[in-house]
Amino acid sequence: MTGNRLDHKRVVITGAASGIGRAAAQLMAGEGARVLIADLDADAAAAAAADIGGGAVGVAVDVLDEASITAMIGCAVDTFGGLDVLCNHVGGSDPRKDLDLLRLDLHEWDRAMALNARSTVVASRLALPHMIAAGSGSIINTVSVAGLAGDTLQCAYGAAKAAVIRLTQYIATQYGRKGVRCNAVAPGAVMTPALRDNVPADVIDDIRRHNALDLIGTPEDIGWAMVYLASDESRYMTGQTLVLDGGLTAQSPIAASRRALLGD
Ligand SMILES: NC(=O)c1ccc[n+]([C@@H]2O[C@H](COP(=O)([O-])OP(=O)(O)OC[C@H]3O[C@@H](n4cnc5c(N)ncnc54)[C@H](O)[C@@H]3O)[C@@H](O)[C@H]2O)c1
Repeated sequence: MTGNRLDHKRVVITGAASGIGRAAAQLMAGEGARVLIADLDADAAAAAAADIGGGAVGVAVDVLDEASITAMIGCAVDTFGGLDVLCNHVGGSDPRKDLDLLRLDLHEWDRAMALNARSTVVASRLALPHMIAAGSGSIINTVSVAGLAGDTLQCAYGAAKAAVIRLTQYIATQYGRKGVRCNAVAPGAVMTPALRDNVPADVIDDIRRHNALDLIGTPEDIGWAMVYLASDESRYMTGQTLVLDGGLTAQSPIAASRRALLGD
Protein backbone atom coordinates (compact mmCIF):
# COMPACT_ATOMS: atom_id res chain seq x y z
CA MET A 1 0.00 0.00 0.00
CA THR A 2 1.41 3.41 -0.92
CA GLY A 3 0.22 6.98 -0.32
CA ASN A 4 1.51 10.45 0.32
CA ARG A 5 0.61 11.03 3.98
CA LEU A 6 4.28 11.57 4.87
CA ASP A 7 5.56 13.35 1.75
CA HIS A 8 8.60 15.52 2.60
CA LYS A 9 8.91 14.04 6.11
CA ARG A 10 12.41 13.10 7.22
CA VAL A 11 12.27 10.32 9.79
CA VAL A 12 14.70 8.55 12.13
CA ILE A 13 13.64 5.23 13.66
CA THR A 14 15.90 3.44 16.15
CA GLY A 15 15.73 -0.35 16.23
CA ALA A 16 14.24 -0.30 12.76
CA ALA A 17 16.01 -3.35 11.32
CA SER A 18 13.50 -5.75 12.88
CA GLY A 19 9.99 -6.17 14.22
CA ILE A 20 7.76 -3.17 14.83
CA GLY A 21 10.46 -0.61 13.91
CA ARG A 22 11.01 -2.23 10.54
CA ALA A 23 7.27 -2.37 9.82
CA ALA A 24 6.96 1.32 10.76
CA ALA A 25 9.90 2.18 8.47
CA GLN A 26 8.29 0.28 5.59
CA LEU A 27 4.87 1.87 6.09
CA MET A 28 6.34 5.39 6.48
CA ALA A 29 8.47 4.99 3.34
CA GLY A 30 5.34 3.80 1.54
CA GLU A 31 3.68 7.07 2.56
CA GLY A 32 6.50 9.13 1.03
CA ALA A 33 8.85 9.62 4.03
CA ARG A 34 12.62 9.41 3.81
CA VAL A 35 13.61 7.08 6.64
CA LEU A 36 16.89 6.56 8.47
CA ILE A 37 16.86 2.96 9.65
CA ALA A 38 19.12 3.02 12.71
CA ASP A 39 20.04 -0.22 14.45
CA LEU A 40 22.73 -1.94 16.49
CA ASP A 41 22.89 -4.53 13.71
CA ALA A 42 24.43 -2.47 10.90
CA ASP A 43 24.12 -5.22 8.27
CA ALA A 44 20.45 -5.77 9.06
CA ALA A 45 19.84 -1.98 8.92
CA ALA A 46 21.50 -1.77 5.49
CA ALA A 47 19.55 -4.81 4.26
CA ALA A 48 16.25 -3.36 5.52
CA ALA A 49 17.00 -0.02 3.84
CA ALA A 50 17.83 -1.75 0.54
CA ASP A 51 14.67 -3.83 0.79
CA ILE A 52 12.40 -0.91 1.67
CA GLY A 53 13.92 1.45 -0.94
CA GLY A 54 12.30 4.85 -1.45
CA GLY A 55 15.42 6.68 -0.25
CA ALA A 56 15.65 4.71 3.03
CA VAL A 57 19.15 4.71 4.50
CA GLY A 58 20.60 2.23 7.00
CA VAL A 59 22.96 3.32 9.75
CA ALA A 60 24.55 1.71 12.81
CA VAL A 61 23.61 3.03 16.24
CA ASP A 62 23.96 1.85 19.80
CA VAL A 63 21.39 3.79 21.80
CA LEU A 64 23.35 2.98 24.98
CA ASP A 65 26.16 5.19 23.65
CA GLU A 66 25.65 8.96 23.57
CA ALA A 67 28.32 9.53 20.89
CA SER A 68 26.65 6.95 18.67
CA ILE A 69 23.24 8.67 19.04
CA THR A 70 24.90 12.01 18.22
CA ALA A 71 26.35 10.49 15.03
CA MET A 72 22.92 9.06 14.11
CA ILE A 73 21.13 12.41 14.38
CA GLY A 74 24.02 14.06 12.50
CA CYS A 75 23.71 11.47 9.76
CA ALA A 76 19.96 12.17 9.38
CA VAL A 77 20.48 15.92 9.18
CA ASP A 78 23.39 15.59 6.72
CA THR A 79 21.62 13.03 4.53
CA PHE A 80 18.10 14.51 4.52
CA GLY A 81 18.84 18.18 5.24
CA GLY A 82 16.80 18.15 8.47
CA LEU A 83 14.67 16.02 10.74
CA ASP A 84 10.88 16.06 11.15
CA VAL A 85 10.15 12.83 13.02
CA LEU A 86 12.13 10.92 15.65
CA CYS A 87 10.93 7.48 16.72
CA ASN A 88 12.64 6.38 19.93
CA HIS A 89 11.76 2.77 19.37
CA VAL A 90 14.55 0.63 20.89
CA GLY A 91 13.74 -0.79 24.28
CA GLY A 92 13.37 -3.89 26.37
CA SER A 93 15.11 -5.68 29.24
CA ASP A 94 16.64 -9.08 29.79
CA PRO A 95 13.81 -11.24 31.20
CA ARG A 96 16.36 -13.58 32.85
CA LYS A 97 17.68 -10.73 35.01
CA ASP A 98 14.68 -8.39 35.24
CA LEU A 99 12.56 -10.34 37.70
CA ASP A 100 10.49 -9.36 40.74
CA LEU A 101 12.03 -6.66 42.95
CA LEU A 102 13.75 -9.02 45.42
CA ARG A 103 15.42 -11.06 42.67
CA LEU A 104 16.11 -8.17 40.29
CA ASP A 105 19.71 -7.80 39.10
CA LEU A 106 20.48 -4.14 39.83
CA HIS A 107 22.81 -3.94 36.83
CA GLU A 108 19.82 -4.89 34.69
CA TRP A 109 17.77 -2.11 36.34
CA ASP A 110 20.44 0.39 35.24
CA ARG A 111 20.65 -1.12 31.74
CA ALA A 112 16.87 -1.11 31.28
CA MET A 113 16.67 2.54 32.40
CA ALA A 114 19.48 3.41 29.97
CA LEU A 115 18.09 1.41 27.03
CA ASN A 116 14.49 2.61 27.36
CA ALA A 117 14.55 6.00 29.10
CA ARG A 118 18.01 7.58 28.93
CA SER A 119 18.30 6.79 25.21
CA THR A 120 14.99 8.59 24.65
CA VAL A 121 16.22 11.63 26.60
CA VAL A 122 19.52 11.78 24.72
CA ALA A 123 18.09 11.35 21.20
CA SER A 124 15.23 13.78 21.85
CA ARG A 125 17.63 16.45 23.17
CA LEU A 126 19.67 16.15 19.97
CA ALA A 127 16.66 16.18 17.64
CA LEU A 128 14.74 19.00 19.32
CA PRO A 129 16.95 21.93 18.20
CA HIS A 130 16.41 20.92 14.55
CA MET A 131 12.65 20.65 15.06
CA ILE A 132 12.45 23.93 16.99
CA ALA A 133 14.44 25.70 14.24
CA ALA A 134 11.96 24.34 11.67
CA GLY A 135 8.97 25.25 13.87
CA SER A 136 7.58 21.71 13.74
CA GLY A 137 8.38 18.12 14.59
CA SER A 138 6.98 14.89 15.99
CA ILE A 139 8.67 12.64 18.53
CA ILE A 140 7.20 9.16 18.91
CA ASN A 141 8.26 7.02 21.85
CA THR A 142 7.59 3.30 21.92
CA VAL A 143 6.52 2.24 25.40
CA SER A 144 4.47 -0.79 26.46
CA VAL A 145 1.40 -1.81 28.41
CA ALA A 146 4.04 -2.95 30.94
CA GLY A 147 4.43 0.74 31.77
CA LEU A 148 0.73 1.12 32.64
CA ALA A 149 0.27 -1.41 35.46
CA GLY A 150 2.19 -3.74 37.74
CA ASP A 151 3.13 -7.28 36.75
CA THR A 152 4.77 -10.32 38.34
CA LEU A 153 8.14 -9.95 36.56
CA GLN A 154 10.21 -7.35 34.63
CA CYS A 155 9.79 -4.51 37.10
CA ALA A 156 12.74 -2.57 35.59
CA TYR A 157 11.16 -2.73 32.13
CA GLY A 158 7.78 -1.56 33.42
CA ALA A 159 9.27 1.27 35.48
CA ALA A 160 11.46 2.41 32.58
CA LYS A 161 8.47 2.49 30.19
CA ALA A 162 6.42 4.39 32.79
CA ALA A 163 9.24 6.94 32.95
CA VAL A 164 9.04 7.35 29.17
CA ILE A 165 5.26 7.81 29.32
CA ARG A 166 5.72 10.72 31.73
CA LEU A 167 8.71 12.06 29.77
CA THR A 168 6.44 12.11 26.71
CA GLN A 169 4.13 14.52 28.56
CA TYR A 170 7.04 16.71 29.67
CA ILE A 171 8.43 17.01 26.14
CA ALA A 172 4.93 17.79 24.85
CA THR A 173 4.47 20.45 27.52
CA GLN A 174 7.89 22.06 27.17
CA TYR A 175 8.10 22.24 23.35
CA GLY A 176 4.48 22.39 22.17
CA ARG A 177 4.70 26.16 21.83
CA LYS A 178 7.69 25.62 19.50
CA GLY A 179 5.60 23.41 17.23
CA VAL A 180 6.97 20.08 18.45
CA ARG A 181 4.57 17.27 19.38
CA CYS A 182 5.48 14.21 21.41
CA ASN A 183 3.35 11.08 21.77
CA ALA A 184 3.88 7.45 22.69
CA VAL A 185 2.60 4.13 21.38
CA ALA A 186 2.02 1.42 23.99
CA PRO A 187 1.81 -2.01 22.36
CA GLY A 188 0.48 -5.10 24.06
CA ALA A 189 1.85 -8.38 22.77
CA VAL A 190 3.06 -8.10 19.17
CA MET A 191 4.40 -11.06 17.22
CA THR A 192 8.05 -10.04 16.68
CA PRO A 193 11.40 -11.85 17.15
CA ALA A 194 11.60 -10.24 20.63
CA LEU A 195 8.28 -11.82 21.68
CA ARG A 196 8.92 -15.16 19.97
CA ASP A 197 12.40 -15.51 21.53
CA ASN A 198 11.48 -14.44 25.06
CA VAL A 199 7.92 -15.58 25.70
CA PRO A 200 6.84 -19.25 25.58
CA ALA A 201 4.00 -20.11 23.17
CA ASP A 202 1.59 -21.05 25.98
CA VAL A 203 2.14 -17.65 27.62
CA ILE A 204 1.40 -15.92 24.29
CA ASP A 205 -1.82 -17.98 24.06
CA ASP A 206 -2.71 -16.87 27.59
CA ILE A 207 -2.20 -13.20 26.62
CA ARG A 208 -4.61 -13.66 23.72
CA ARG A 209 -7.13 -15.18 26.12
CA HIS A 210 -6.88 -11.96 28.16
CA ASN A 211 -7.32 -9.65 25.15
CA ALA A 212 -10.78 -8.39 24.26
CA LEU A 213 -9.99 -9.23 20.63
CA ASP A 214 -9.08 -12.81 19.80
CA LEU A 215 -5.77 -11.61 18.34
CA ILE A 216 -2.07 -11.09 18.96
CA GLY A 217 -0.87 -7.90 17.25
CA THR A 218 1.32 -7.69 14.17
CA PRO A 219 4.17 -5.18 13.74
CA GLU A 220 2.02 -3.35 11.18
CA ASP A 221 -0.76 -2.83 13.75
CA ILE A 222 1.67 -0.59 15.67
CA GLY A 223 3.38 0.76 12.54
CA TRP A 224 0.14 2.31 11.23
CA ALA A 225 -0.34 4.16 14.52
CA MET A 226 3.21 5.47 14.17
CA VAL A 227 2.42 6.65 10.62
CA TYR A 228 -0.55 8.58 12.03
CA LEU A 229 1.54 10.17 14.82
CA ALA A 230 4.27 11.10 12.30
CA SER A 231 1.75 12.71 9.94
CA ASP A 232 0.02 16.07 10.16
CA GLU A 233 -3.27 14.16 10.59
CA SER A 234 -2.38 14.06 14.30
CA ARG A 235 -1.54 17.78 14.50
CA TYR A 236 -3.90 18.35 17.47
CA MET A 237 -2.54 15.41 19.47
CA THR A 238 0.39 15.67 21.87
CA GLY A 239 1.46 14.24 25.22
CA GLN A 240 -0.69 11.14 24.69
CA THR A 241 -0.04 7.43 24.92
CA LEU A 242 -1.88 5.49 22.25
CA VAL A 243 -2.54 1.99 23.56
CA LEU A 244 -2.62 -0.78 20.93
CA ASP A 245 -3.18 -3.97 22.90
CA GLY A 246 -6.21 -5.84 21.55
CA GLY A 247 -8.21 -4.46 24.45
CA LEU A 248 -6.05 -6.06 27.18
CA THR A 249 -6.07 -2.99 29.41
CA ALA A 250 -9.56 -1.78 28.43
CA GLN A 251 -11.45 -4.59 30.07
CA SER A 252 -11.94 -5.79 33.63
CA PRO A 253 -9.11 -8.14 34.74
CA ILE A 254 -11.73 -10.84 35.35
CA ALA A 255 -13.31 -10.61 31.89
CA ALA A 256 -11.27 -13.56 30.54
CA SER A 257 -12.42 -15.85 33.39
CA ARG A 258 -16.02 -14.67 32.93
CA ARG A 259 -15.81 -15.47 29.20
CA ALA A 260 -14.48 -18.95 30.05
CA LEU A 261 -17.32 -19.50 32.60
CA LEU A 262 -19.87 -18.44 30.00
CA GLY A 263 -18.26 -20.78 27.46
CA ASP A 264 -17.58 -17.76 25.19
N1 LIG B 1 7.08 -7.07 20.55
C1 LIG B 1 6.26 -6.79 21.55
O1 LIG B 1 5.40 -7.60 21.92
C2 LIG B 1 6.35 -5.46 22.24
C3 LIG B 1 5.34 -5.12 23.15
C4 LIG B 1 5.41 -3.90 23.81
C5 LIG B 1 6.45 -3.02 23.53
N2 LIG B 1 7.43 -3.39 22.63
C6 LIG B 1 8.51 -2.42 22.41
O2 LIG B 1 8.85 -2.36 21.03
C7 LIG B 1 10.24 -2.03 20.92
C8 LIG B 1 11.04 -3.01 20.08
O3 LIG B 1 10.42 -4.16 19.99
P1 LIG B 1 10.33 -5.03 18.65
O4 LIG B 1 9.26 -5.97 18.95
O5 LIG B 1 10.26 -4.21 17.42
O6 LIG B 1 11.78 -5.78 18.81
P2 LIG B 1 12.73 -6.56 17.83
O7 LIG B 1 13.53 -7.45 18.71
O8 LIG B 1 12.01 -7.14 16.68
O9 LIG B 1 13.71 -5.40 17.28
C9 LIG B 1 14.52 -4.69 18.12
C10 LIG B 1 15.63 -4.06 17.28
O10 LIG B 1 16.38 -3.19 18.14
C11 LIG B 1 17.76 -3.38 17.87
N3 LIG B 1 18.53 -3.00 19.07
C12 LIG B 1 18.67 -3.70 20.22
N4 LIG B 1 19.47 -3.05 21.07
C13 LIG B 1 19.85 -1.90 20.44
C14 LIG B 1 20.70 -0.81 20.80
N5 LIG B 1 21.34 -0.78 21.98
N6 LIG B 1 20.84 0.21 19.92
C15 LIG B 1 20.22 0.17 18.72
N7 LIG B 1 19.42 -0.84 18.31
C16 LIG B 1 19.24 -1.86 19.17
C17 LIG B 1 17.90 -4.85 17.52
O11 LIG B 1 19.10 -5.08 16.76
C18 LIG B 1 16.62 -5.10 16.72
O12 LIG B 1 16.80 -4.89 15.32
C19 LIG B 1 10.80 -1.96 22.33
O13 LIG B 1 10.77 -0.63 22.78
C20 LIG B 1 9.80 -2.82 23.10
O14 LIG B 1 9.81 -2.50 24.47
C21 LIG B 1 7.39 -4.58 21.98
